[in-house]
Amino acid sequence: MDWGLKNRLSRIIKPETGRTVMLAVDHGYFLGPTTGLEEPRKVIEPLLPYADTLMPTRGVLRTCVDPTADIPVVLRVSGGTSILGNLADEGTTVSMKDAVRLNVAGVALSIFVGSELEKQTLLGLARLVDEGEEHGIPVLAVTAVGKDMARDARYLGLASRIAAELGAHFVKTYYCEDFERVVRNCPVPIVIAGGKKIPEKDALELAYNAITRGAVGVDMGRNIFQSECPVAMIQAVRAVVHNNEAPDKAYELYRTLAEESKKETVGAVAT
Ligand code: 5RP
Repeated sequence: MDWGLKNRLSRIIKPETGRTVMLAVDHGYFLGPTTGLEEPRKVIEPLLPYADTLMPTRGVLRTCVDPTADIPVVLRVSGGTSILGNLADEGTTVSMKDAVRLNVAGVALSIFVGSELEKQTLLGLARLVDEGEEHGIPVLAVTAVGKDMARDARYLGLASRIAAELGAHFVKTYYCEDFERVVRNCPVPIVIAGGKKIPEKDALELAYNAITRGAVGVDMGRNIFQSECPVAMIQAVRAVVHNNEAPDKAYELYRTLAEESKKETVGAVAT
């Protein structure tokens, strides 16, 4: 791995803890105006101080993130489909030249192992890795799960390992039972997606289980920005990821911060 690529990777996965809190806000690339992300700038700005990395699309990056913001970006560069079509039929949507121009720390694309289009997405990954290596930009492979794909250690382990074999520098997958096996069989770092919104306490437990079983962090979206108090939630997630905080303690932190933020809002309205 060359210096530039290592340097970028260390901006994403923090060397101090070997962990990362990535904030995923790329959902619009196939979901359009996703609940909680209708106005990306308003949602993203207050969360940035607590995120190690931001994962947006090119459009949201350009329009909703201040170019002076001190945040490494892992840019979503796959897409071309919508929730109404065949999700697996993705292609590359951003050239490496533009990714470099946007000064990204990494690029991300989805692979659809087991779908009828797996070859297209896997060769897309291999091509992106070639380009990433050429420009010193790490590639995050996202093991997308279609409607009919299992979320078990066998499937996620298979998809994660194939991503690593094709040269992905890190992998985003889902937490599952026997997650240690997925981690053990994947020679590159793994971050987990949060998935659909679940109660805050459960999402913190999910993050804790993933971290203690070998994930280097989370790339979490809906369980942060759809939370009742996103700013409190991301801080609680940070406590789990970087300080190994136990889920009940992290949830306590969430409640305290959410309460404080409620009081501040009420105070601001009253004055
Ligand atoms: C889909 C994605 C998402 O768009 C997103 O990044 C997922 O984050 P979360 O599940 O935490 O909302 O990667 O494959």
